[in-house]
Amino acid sequence: MVTTRKPLRAAIIGLGRLGARHARHLANKIQGVKLVAACALDSNQLEWAKNELGVETTYTNYKDMIDTENIDAIFIVAPTPFHPEMTIYAMNAGLNVFCEKPLGLDFNEVDEMAKVIKSHPNQIFQSGFMRRYDDSYRYAKKIVDNGDIGKIIYMRGYGIDPISGMESFTKFATEADSGGIFVDMNIHDIDLIRWFTGQDPVQAYGLTSNIAAPQLADIGEFETGVAQLKMSDGVIATLIGGRHAAHGNQVELEVMGSNGWVRIGEHPDLNRVTVFNDQGVVRPSLQSFGERFDTAFTDEVQDFVNNVIVGKQPEVTVDDGIKALKIAKACQQSANIGKLVDIQL
Ligand SMILES: NC(=O)c1ccc[n+]([C@@H]2O[C@H](COP(=O)([O-])OP(=O)(O)OC[C@H]3O[C@@H](n4cnc5c(N)ncnc54)[C@H](O)[C@@H]3O)[C@@H](O)[C@H]2O)c1
Repeated sequence: MVTTRKPLRAAIIGLGRLGARHARHLANKIQGVKLVAACALDSNQLEWAKNELGVETTYTNYKDMIDTENIDAIFIVAPTPFHPEMTIYAMNAGLNVFCEKPLGLDFNEVDEMAKVIKSHPNQIFQSGFMRRYDDSYRYAKKIVDNGDIGKIIYMRGYGIDPISGMESFTKFATEADSGGIFVDMNIHDIDLIRWFTGQDPVQAYGLTSNIAAPQLADIGEFETGVAQLKMSDGVIATLIGGRHAAHGNQVELEVMGSNGWVRIGEHPDLNRVTVFNDQGVVRPSLQSFGERFDTAFTDEVQDFVNNVIVGKQPEVTVDDGIKALKIAKACQQSANIGKLVDIQL
């Protein structure tokens, strides 16, 4: 967007696995915005933001930052349980808010968060379902919307992190409740299935296991979560979320139609290189969600900034976030009780 107006002044809460990426993008790539302040609990991360990104002021208390700084927008990339209170405080302070997925973990808190967001219709709120900004998903969606593969019959989503990331995940899950495999991981595919089909699920059946990482049981987490969803007009979806991929970051979606199929990310290729050696014919693979979705993360944040500048509410609404959370929780509930669960949205 070409603009002669002053850049928006923005701050960020959270400089961890994802917050550092958003902060780097805000400081170096995103047009129309200046990252002026950052808040985190880790002093090394705050030093990094000052020294590497030129962030002027840093905080360990987000309320102090919001009360002190003259800012237009805030990016919430702190652990999920903090999202509702941080969003409510920021919206009530008159800020535009970008908040990472999921919206939160507790329904009462998330309902209150939605009420506050809706009571400020002139402020922008955007939730971090960045896969909707990925070029491949957008391309596939156009094919499906054109009717080129006929009617959707079935969808299959894989969201499987590399097992090499287990240590950093375990630290994250130990320090802050992740919400569990369905709420933390499968939620992306839940949102995409709603986006592709235009339907909501009516029933969920969930199963969990810890075969690849039995140590996760000690912190109340499951490594693998599989969900079957039945959508309102009969489409069936299978989602597998996990943290066990030996080869890298496997994020794949398949849409089977009555007249053809599309697959997105069937192989997590790092690039177009194939190595022929004593291991066989080898394709190097992506190793993290950050690498896979770097451009999507940039594009979603640029879209948020553009939306704030022109006063336009984003395509992904708070209600999309609430529905995805309710569906993910229904999958977890089904796994807990071992029964098919009806979904009320
Ligand atoms: N869209 C995606 O694909 C995606 C990927 C990864 C993470 N996320 C989401 O981003 C959020 C953060 O995840 P992460 O992996 O970066 O976490 P992390 O643990 O790596 O980092 C958390 C950051 O928040 C800070 N923090 C913690 N408590 C705080 C508090 N009370 N006040 C201020 N700062 C606080 C920490 O100091 C740290 O900088 C989570 O909600 C997660 O679900 C989304």
